[in-house]
Amino acid sequence: MDKWWKQSTFYEIYIPSFMDGNGDGIGDFQGITSKLDYLKELGIDGIWLTPFYESPKVDNGYDISDYYKIDSDYGTMGDFETFIQEAHHRGIRVIADLVLNHTSSEHQWFQESKSSRNHPKRDWYIWRDEPNNWESFFGGSAWEYDKTTKQYYYHAFAREQVDLNWHNPEVKKAMFDVIKFWLDKGIDGFRLDVINFLKVNDSFLNNPFDEKKQEQIHLHDKDQEGILLLIEEIAKFVHQYPDKFLVGEVGSENLNILKQYSGNNKLDVVFNFNIGSIEEFDASQLYQQLVATEETYKECQIPTLFFSSHDMSRHISRFGNREDRAKLVATLMLTAKGIPFIYNGDEIGMRDWITDDINKMKDIQGITAYKLALKEGKSHDEALIIANEKSRDKSRTPMQWNGNTYAGFSTNEPWINVPAELHLAIMEDQQDDPNSLLSFYKKLLRLRKKHVALHAGNYEYLHYKDDIITFAKTKQSEKIVVVLNFSDEKKSIELKSQIHILLLTNKNISKEENVITLLSNEAIIYKEKIRICE
Ligand code: NOJ
Repeated sequence: MDKWWKQSTFYEIYIPSFMDGNGDGIGDFQGITSKLDYLKELGIDGIWLTPFYESPKVDNGYDISDYYKIDSDYGTMGDFETFIQEAHHRGIRVIADLVLNHTSSEHQWFQESKSSRNHPKRDWYIWRDEPNNWESFFGGSAWEYDKTTKQYYYHAFAREQVDLNWHNPEVKKAMFDVIKFWLDKGIDGFRLDVINFLKVNDSFLNNPFDEKKQEQIHLHDKDQEGILLLIEEIAKFVHQYPDKFLVGEVGSENLNILKQYSGNNKLDVVFNFNIGSIEEFDASQLYQQLVATEETYKECQIPTLFFSSHDMSRHISRFGNREDRAKLVATLMLTAKGIPFIYNGDEIGMRDWITDDINKMKDIQGITAYKLALKEGKSHDEALIIANEKSRDKSRTPMQWNGNTYAGFSTNEPWINVPAELHLAIMEDQQDDPNSLLSFYKKLLRLRKKHVALHAGNYEYLHYKDDIITFAKTKQSEKIVVVLNFSDEKKSIELKSQIHILLLTNKNISKEENVITLLSNEAIIYKEKIRICE
């Protein structure tokens, strides 16, 4: 029997914005539990929860101050346990985001570490007398001076997110205890945050710059020696528990590096941002990435498929705010080879949010970009544009359960000024409309579940021509063909055999026997009829 996650579709819940159950303006576990029936009905199999541990939330929970506590904004341990029980009761698995690379600067461990150079926990973090040139991924130096002990500490992200020193075995032990705690609570696996960053080069060589001398190349602060062995140790520890799943966030554009992190005793899968964060609605680019992934992953690794997340612009907005394109992308994501991760709100076509008021920006990455731009002499307006480009608030607005009142987000409303155009995507309006994006997602998810060739098949072929991506997937005796028209024009395709249509948005199929016409940005999913000779 194949592992459960190989056939699953995951749904990412960005907790603060998903559903507020207690009316304080912030999403929480009570809220998520109340939406489990919605998720079941949608047809997903697993939930990825963004961090819910106690945190000052400088970076929305990716700065954990206590790994053993539920952040009070999100509820109590009891609320968490009820949620897990209720999810499992509906056959939905739950994976938790786990940040092993860094803790909040408010974490007790760091407070102790920074208290004196001789403290036993001093070496739990990375301290140096002088900084090198490493840059933080949010901008600016990755080193922060600490007055008390007159040394610099390393932070790959915000200064409030302090990198742990994974060369220290006590750190490893402490984190394995954390992992055990949550597995014992019934978590079905983890999404491991920036997992290729755990080790940095301990000779602290300066990073080089690209040819234009503009962008730093992160040569010495990620993918370092020893990281893969550490990944194996983590995977071995987690997989002592049967049936647990590990997905890694590996920040790398190099497929050959990505590939090393999954399969063969390592993580089960890793995210592939080359497909996920593709900027243009361009079939040929997408096709090249699908082929490159397929070729690199030949040896029993399984790709992931996603097009949005809490860290990037939503794909509907990247691709021109068009619902037909959103349907096409959904079709690709839920039929191509790989484990799909839907980002909450994409199923109802939520759009990006851009602010014209810097004071309303919440994301640390956007705010840091704004400050750095001002420092470099840019005007407020220029800095705001840069900040909006960097800010991840765009995809973090509250789930639009009800467009008028934003149910549950009325008090302490962090997004009170969500502009009217975002109201286009309202869940309630789509529930009963058979042509809505939401109904389309449901159909796709049902189809994926029903057909083994879709949820577990391998490519028989994968082609591209004239803005059309075509692939056939087979498993057992089933063969399913998917044709995706990425152009703004109608396209006719010739059929080589009789077909049985499984899903199509266009009802005007050409009458000719062996030709089918796809409207612009339309896809068809069909089974080839097998001729039985008598
Ligand atoms: C990746 C997370 O997805 C992102 O939101 C966060 O800012 C960084 N890791 C740092 O933890």
